[in-house]
Amino acid sequence: MAGTAGRCGPRAKRGVMMASDTRPGSQPRAISPGTQGDDDQQDTRLRPARLQDFVGQPQVKENLSIAMAAAQLRGEPLDHVVIYGPPGLGKTTLANIIAHEMGAAIKVTSGPAVERASDIASILTGLQPNDVLFIDEIHRLNRAVEEVMYSAMEDFFLSWVVGKGLSARNINLRINPFTLVGATTRYSLISAPLRDRFGSVFRLDYYNDADMATVVQRSANIMGIKGDAEGLDEVAVRSRGTPRIANRLLRRARDYALVKADNRITGPVARESLDRLGVDAKGLDETDHRLLNNIIDKFNGGPVGLDTLAASLSEDTSTVMEVLEPFLLQQGFIERTPRGRVATRLAYEYLGWPWQGTGSDATQQGNLFG
Ligand SMILES: Nc1ncnc2c1ncn2[C@@H]1O[C@H](COP(=O)(O)OP(=O)(O)OP(=O)(O)O)[C@@H](O)[C@H]1O
Ligand SMILES: [Mg+2]
Repeated sequence: MAGTAGRCGPRAKRGVMMASDTRPGSQPRAISPGTQGDDDQQDTRLRPARLQDFVGQPQVKENLSIAMAAAQLRGEPLDHVVIYGPPGLGKTTLANIIAHEMGAAIKVTSGPAVERASDIASILTGLQPNDVLFIDEIHRLNRAVEEVMYSAMEDFFLSWVVGKGLSARNINLRINPFTLVGATTRYSLISAPLRDRFGSVFRLDYYNDADMATVVQRSANIMGIKGDAEGLDEVAVRSRGTPRIANRLLRRARDYALVKADNRITGPVARESLDRLGVDAKGLDETDHRLLNNIIDKFNGGPVGLDTLAASLSEDTSTVMEVLEPFLLQQGFIERTPRGRVATRLAYEYLGWPWQGTGSDATQQGNLFG
């Protein structure tokens, strides 16, 4: 049921990013979690290749390393894995690490790129023993492709129909054992039968400040960027718990330091350069401020329905839900309630509004990925 909803539901995350990043006359958000400009090219250099270099997410790393060691001792491929969480937290990175640690090759595709059963069949028959097949945006696989995946995942066996009507033929084929690594920002949109066929599910969460500081320090070392602890920490805390954003803000702070400040990212240099990008002390930008101010000012703190809120921001609802809200929820600035979105006391105080006692007093995170 969830899977069906997903297919005709909100647009894919990249589509959503585009909607948010390319509004006429607007600059891309410096703190957008999706890829931008030269991110991809730079990311390959910064992407950790081994599990020991993957910062943070201790539980994921521990469970994954046990599962990989056990598979290696048994001489089998790792059981299929699904990794989910918001953009920029390391899903693709982990998929590559899994292949690397298992000494396997990785083949990469994505849900929307595989259209027909024969497409997935040709990918699967091309796999060598123990290869990793990485399917990004796995919640967007269509039904026909998913159905081929079921027996492929369970028994390493393919069965699909070629042709139509009287000329239709059934094809059955054995394939090499492999590991499927699926990634998604929307776990609940993966259909139940597909979900059931994964051996492990790993959820990546926003990184804490200490882990973000390590990410920034590591990237600064790799890029040969000079800066003191205060400057690099400032970049870390403004990066919304997201390594991709940290790497981008670090590059922008480096540029600013080069032009204006003796090529060193100190505390004041980091603050000045990120202020100029419109990224405040907690990593919020003008769009976040607008969203929170709207709830507080126009809707009296909420609750306000998603559609109404999106309309007041001239954004579409999926952009609000998938791009704007998750970090604000996680930080405790807003809450999702059955009657709509509510600004918390923290939001009032952070933005300098007198607390009315109308919104929520809680600062705990809501359900991020439902
Ligand atoms: N745990 C980590 N330690 C160090 N760097 C990381 C970590 N996770 C991610 N990164 C950095 O952040 C970048 C973005 O990560 P990645 O592309 O894996 O995110 P993603 O979850 O796949 O995002 P998307 O949902 O947009 O596909 C990586 O290139 C890497 O440099
Ligand atoms: Mg990715």
